Amino acid sequence: MKIANLRTEYQREPLGIDRRNPRFSWELTAETWERDKFQHAYWIQAASDEHLFDAPDLWDTGFIEGSETCQIRYQGSPLHSRQRVFWRVCVRDERGVITDWSPTASFSVGLLDRKDWKASWIGIESDDGLPPFEPADKVWESIEKNGWGKGWGQAKYEGILGEETEEYLKIVNQELTCKPRFHNPSLSIRQMFREKKLARPRYVRREFTAAKEFSKAVLYATALGLYELYINGEKVGDRILSPEWTSYNRRVQYQTYDVTPMLRRGVNTLSARLGNGWYCGMWQFWPQMPHLYGREPLLLAQLEMETEEGRVLVVSDDNWKGTDQGGLRFSGLYEGEEFDARMEPRGFDQNGFDDSLWKNAVIRRPKHGKLIWQRSEPIRVTQVLRAVAVTSPKNKVYVFDFGQNLVGRIKIKVDAPEGTRIRLFHNEVLNADGTVYRENLSAGHMTRAPHQTLDYICAGGQEAYCPYFTYMGFRYVEVEGLPYEPLPDCMEAQVIHTDFAETGAFSCSDPLVSKLAMNIKWSQRGNMLGIPTDCPQRDERCGYTGDGQFFMPTGLYNMDLAAFNSKWIRDICQDSFRREGYFADHAPDFGAGRRNVGWQEAGVICPYLQYRCYGDTDILAENYEAMVQFTMGLHEKADERGLQGKDGAGNGDWLNLGGGASHEVIAAAYYIRVLDCMAEIARALDKDADADSLQALAVQARAAFADHLIDGEGRISDSSQTGYALAFALGLVPHGKREAAAYQFKKEMERFEGRLATGFIGTPLLLPALHAAGLDDMAYRVLLRRDAPSWLYPVRMGATTVWERWDGYTEEKGYADSGMNSFNHYAFGSVGEYLFSVIGGIKERSPGYGEFYIRPVIGRGLSWAKVSFHSIHGEIFVFWTDRGKVAEVEVGVPVNTRCYLTLPWGGGDDFVLRAVLVQESSSGQPMIRRDRI
Ligand code: BGC
Repeated sequence: MKIANLRTEYQREPLGIDRRNPRFSWELTAETWERDKFQHAYWIQAASDEHLFDAPDLWDTGFIEGSETCQIRYQGSPLHSRQRVFWRVCVRDERGVITDWSPTASFSVGLLDRKDWKASWIGIESDDGLPPFEPADKVWESIEKNGWGKGWGQAKYEGILGEETEEYLKIVNQELTCKPRFHNPSLSIRQMFREKKLARPRYVRREFTAAKEFSKAVLYATALGLYELYINGEKVGDRILSPEWTSYNRRVQYQTYDVTPMLRRGVNTLSARLGNGWYCGMWQFWPQMPHLYGREPLLLAQLEMETEEGRVLVVSDDNWKGTDQGGLRFSGLYEGEEFDARMEPRGFDQNGFDDSLWKNAVIRRPKHGKLIWQRSEPIRVTQVLRAVAVTSPKNKVYVFDFGQNLVGRIKIKVDAPEGTRIRLFHNEVLNADGTVYRENLSAGHMTRAPHQTLDYICAGGQEAYCPYFTYMGFRYVEVEGLPYEPLPDCMEAQVIHTDFAETGAFSCSDPLVSKLAMNIKWSQRGNMLGIPTDCPQRDERCGYTGDGQFFMPTGLYNMDLAAFNSKWIRDICQDSFRREGYFADHAPDFGAGRRNVGWQEAGVICPYLQYRCYGDTDILAENYEAMVQFTMGLHEKADERGLQGKDGAGNGDWLNLGGGASHEVIAAAYYIRVLDCMAEIARALDKDADADSLQALAVQARAAFADHLIDGEGRISDSSQTGYALAFALGLVPHGKREAAAYQFKKEMERFEGRLATGFIGTPLLLPALHAAGLDDMAYRVLLRRDAPSWLYPVRMGATTVWERWDGYTEEKGYADSGMNSFNHYAFGSVGEYLFSVIGGIKERSPGYGEFYIRPVIGRGLSWAKVSFHSIHGEIFVFWTDRGKVAEVEVGVPVNTRCYLTLPWGGGDDFVLRAVLVQESSSGQPMIRRDRI
């Protein structure tokens, strides 16, 4: 066996982690093809230097019996701030053969204590017309006094906006009154948006002399707002939109960079651009809400050079100089950017720049949450696409088509006279005349001022521009103002998202279904930038917990979300848990998060799914209390029948087309789902008493559902497709009513002629439920439909991502209501779970896939399917071919796992196929050897 993919806290070679007992994982591959290959014991060594493995100074475990290869907690000598740790592992197999030591992995510890930070937050005084800086303490004192839940809006706004119109306060205090939230924004705020009254981006710099003979230089940095740092003109690292989005009042992520090779002897320049981002940019909200967390971008940076005499620091302080009069005139996540190249202070990031007219930086003391390590992979450019066509629908207007609806930014090269203003509009689809359609960019949260727009004013001559602090959802870019016809290669599209690894692949004999699987992945990429969002283009882009929850089973197959979820689940469970006892319907919550059945349960379901996929119990333990409180809240709300009442809170089966379910059914089903998850979670945490009582509650609630919500003929009360989807997928139909309910389910599907009529609640569960009801033929019929509404209709219409609505565009009616019509919304892409878990049949049996099932449903309209999933234990593979009466199945099973294979035509017990190996290919990538059955 060989050992590969060593990771610490789900990341390779992470820097600056803030855990004292991080968890390790590795994967095993085998060199020969054999079954029953297992790890029987492992031995870990950790040392502060990679040359110390002969006598490791931190941890030397000797052989520990066990087959675990993930979630292994470091238990060596205590770790301290800045510590570098090197570790390696070897394993003994079932026959006593011991492997070589693995390659060495490493990680570094960050700044664990607030006192380790010697840097100060710095900002630049500006004449940008915004109210003067208000020491945040005043605001926060008031929040602390009044509490978070009620009225914090008012408290916060008193300090920051200084606009207390009566109408305004009524709006921000909507939590107190619980009145409907759809108000017209006050004039002043509308104006604020129109005039782009956000803080102007800042430029800051400092020259310093490098310490003599430094052996290592590490830069710790973060911003309230967004930052890009440069050393001697070169960007530090390849992260984008750092430090990403958190509830800044609760936690702010810092980043750690090894900058040793970037420093020169003698004088160096450390500089940064700062933008507003999520911290003090415009906000989706009713009304528009600028400056949600603060009003100006601030930087915190600490460069540490290690020398023999000790540590030499360069920190952000008032020795820095800065300006808000750089080329970057405006930056907003939704709106775009304005860059006037004539104003760019060229060379500000290099030694010798004359900053005598720049202001001295000012030290600020903003109140903010804890500084923490960024535990997910950063946002990066992951692909670059070239235009597939350039058209000119109007005189001097050019439209670039990148052939794929993507999320990211462009880079453009121009050569135009000084002062030429070039405007670029981005969006996903076109108008009939070939210009870029822009109507769907506003859902009413912000005014209809330009969104997704770049303005570039040329300095003259050859120049290139790539925006800094914004991102767009687009396939097309319309360019105005170019004084010549552009060549296609003058613009590239950079795809950006959280840089997680791809773990899933699906293809089958129906090219449209294969394309659907690709589109789902594109929507996942585009909606996972630091947090999972509903959409990437219009004025929302929020961490809606429902959307995240509905899509998560699919998302977990497609991509390695272990680190990404570890961060977002904390946003949900810790930062967006309302003191009223429920999880907000978006996380990070910005104060308006409400009760919303299907959304609020993400606080239990997402940690549960993370546990099932990666065997992660830390995420459960850390959030257990909030989860229990939420569950008990539901329990207390239950009526005398054990149901949640008729008026379930929230959206219901959002965007359904007549096939929904009553609030009562949805709320009852979700209550049972929460109880089921919680019972298992309690059991995983060895809280058996809790698990027993939660299980007992689940039994009662199931009985109540069966007695009161399923009638004698198997009909689900007041519900259509979604009601049956919930009942069958969540196991709510008692044995005695199964046949009748399955009959009704089928009837309900046929009432819509086998077309989809479900919304956000029903869609993820519909096909798994048909499968559970024994209606596989119907499931395939629905999946393979090509006419609207169906999954394949958009694909047929040329979609390259998943749409928000079934009828986002139809040949008959054109585009749907522009108020809410995104062409990149992954919620309906939740059908991906069915592709992997039913068509491929891959499903975990034990948390983390140490044991898993392969139970494919073969045939029914497809002649072959090829499905793979790279689990935390390695790659699982299924390839089946239906040749009429004979079917062939090939499977790949990672070393050290156990696969339970059920062949669809075979009766009786599961056939157990044990460890088949994964082999290393010549490219170094693990490759599956297939075992033919
Ligand atoms: C979003 C949805 C979301 C919903 C919740 C919409 O505007 O785009 O995806 O779940 O609001 O209310």
